[in-house]
Amino acid sequence: MDATDESSTTAVCIRLRRNGPLVLTGPVNLVREDGSLLREADSMALCRCGASREAPFCDGSHRVTVFRDD
Ligand code: FES
Repeated sequence: MDATDESSTTAVCIRLRRNGPLVLTGPVNLVREDGSLLREADSMALCRCGASREAPFCDGSHRVTVFRDD
């Protein structure tokens, strides 16, 4: 499958984790703007707090920065 192929029929679940990342359960392909594949995985956590040193992935820094999503 091409990294930019968005025709997959497999459901992807996206969960907002309270005070934490977006957790995607798939399979999931994360694709860069140019269409190249950044990561292919069964699940991944994406940063919402802006503090991750591994952006766009969550590295747990939201716990240190005490991110709140209220
Ligand atoms: S949400 Fe976890 S590091 Fe940002």
